[in-house]
Amino acid sequence: MKVGVLASGTGSLFEAICEGQDETYEVVVLVTDRPHIRALEVAEARGIPAVVVPFKDFDSRDAFSEAVAKALIEYEVDLAANAGFMRILTAPYLDLMAPRVLLNSHPSLLPKYPGMHGVRDALAAEETVTGTTIHRVTLDLDGGPIVAQEEVAIIPGEGEETLHERIKIVERRLYPEVVRSFCVGRPDDG
Ligand code: GRF
Repeated sequence: MKVGVLASGTGSLFEAICEGQDETYEVVVLVTDRPHIRALEVAEARGIPAVVVPFKDFDSRDAFSEAVAKALIEYEVDLAANAGFMRILTAPYLDLMAPRVLLNSHPSLLPKYPGMHGVRDALAAEETVTGTTIHRVTLDLDGGPIVAQEEVAIIPGEGEETLHERIKIVERRLYPEVVRSFCVGRPDDG
């Protein structure tokens, strides 16, 4: 299956999904909303095409979402994996991308702590355990059906950055496994 990854930052999850490639899936494109991010360097180093869709070039979230979907469809992706993509995608994205598999990884045990600050919010609530969730993308932000979840114990006194980095270690293992699980047994049309 052909996989497209959406990322807005360092792209360590994107990199992990690339490293997880095997006979079940191939990463065919990176789509990002930001022009100067490390994820683009990762794509270049691996020879993976990258498409930059700057949010400010569009006059609505719907128009942006449509452009993101069109970029992925042009590369014939079967599965789109949001991996640190920091923009909300609206109905045109879901409409155009159907019936493809749309996934997102979020650094909390959803339904707890959706939104931008999943790690910070778990710390503020004095949780002892948080984790990561991989779920289907729907119009409900961080609210789509859960596909996989893994716990990470919070070390007393640790800060947001350290905790997030420990969660990302788990995400970098789990996300390629989940992507693979959707691709196993699917016919290869390439
Ligand atoms: C991950 O924690 C992911 O769950 C969240 O953004 C982070 C992306 O990390 N949505 P990176 O940019 O791939 O390092």
